[in-house]
Amino acid sequence: MKVTVIGAGNVGATVAECVARKDMTDEVVLIDIVEGLPQGKALDMAEAAPIHLFDTKVTGTNDYADTAGSDICVITAGLARKPGMSRDDLLGKNAAIVASVTKQFVAHSPNAIIIVVSNPLDVMTYVAYEASGFPSNRVFGMAGVLDTARYRAFISMELGVSVKDIQALLMGGHGDTMVPLPNFTTVGGIALPELMDDETINAIVERTKFGGGEIVKLMGTSAWYAPGAAAAEMVEAIVKDSNRVLPCAVWMKGEYGLSDLFIGAPARLGRNGLEEIIEVSLTQSEQALLADSAQHVRDNLAALERIQNS
Ligand code: NAI
Ligand code: 2OP
Repeated sequence: MKVTVIGAGNVGATVAECVARKDMTDEVVLIDIVEGLPQGKALDMAEAAPIHLFDTKVTGTNDYADTAGSDICVITAGLARKPGMSRDDLLGKNAAIVASVTKQFVAHSPNAIIIVVSNPLDVMTYVAYEASGFPSNRVFGMAGVLDTARYRAFISMELGVSVKDIQALLMGGHGDTMVPLPNFTTVGGIALPELMDDETINAIVERTKFGGGEIVKLMGTSAWYAPGAAAAEMVEAIVKDSNRVLPCAVWMKGEYGLSDLFIGAPARLGRNGLEEIIEVSLTQSEQALLADSAQHVRDNLAALERIQNS
């Protein structure tokens, strides 16, 4: 299997390294517009292979011909958030970048599965979907795996329990309107509300919603370790055809009463990419939060259309 990662910046390089360290694919190709950057980072990773003990070949390039025949592509190209910027501020510039890199990539890998990471995530996934012409089982976005990882990490810190025993679900767009679902969160099989009062749960939910911004404030740009690991987990589910159930930004066709947009929902990932969107029963208030989040994604899609027509 061959995996291409587009964008050799902080997130892209981390995705490439995480995928390589899992030692599950023949090849990882890192591609960027900046000359020397993907080549240098790929060589550095290849030189770490004898220490980490992986056989995956890691290469860097500026030429899409070198990505030909890829099975999976992770798109991280684009601008990252700076302090004071929301993910939505990246809309116009990143849409142009994501459309351009997608077209160049699919010309050489018409059967690949695309995982989008660039922000604003739900809209950029739509941009890649449109630009690729691929069916919706082969284009989806990474956000929920990261957001639930943050949520699970905060729960583990609060309760002093292993992260390994925390399972959680989070839906909606990748932004401040995301919808963490405490009723679908368990610790060693125990429902979260059994272990934490509402006030503490709400504080953790709020911290999760603004988890990306918390890191931007601390270091002046957005996160990459957890985002890179999250995208690599999705790649692994596809490579190993493992049918993992992970929250992903997926194309809705009536599920949860939503259509014609990408938004986060529980998904089963396997060799065909998106194998299934799993529908769970939400309470009225959870459904209302999801509808608000969907409206935010639709507003962003409309804003992008205005930018493109201006
Ligand atoms: P970065 O600035 O470190 O890297 C971006 C890379 O994209 C740069 O190396 C740049 O040269 C490259 N690039 C720009 N235009 C390109 C083009 N036309 N072709 C190929 N490469 C191009 O940024 P970072 O931190 O890696 O973030 C990347 C994106 O991922 C941002 O949009 C960020 O907001 C998003 N992100 C999304 C997350 C999510 O959960 N979905 C989490 C973290 C970041
Ligand atoms: C994050 O959540 C900025 O989307 C990026 O870290």
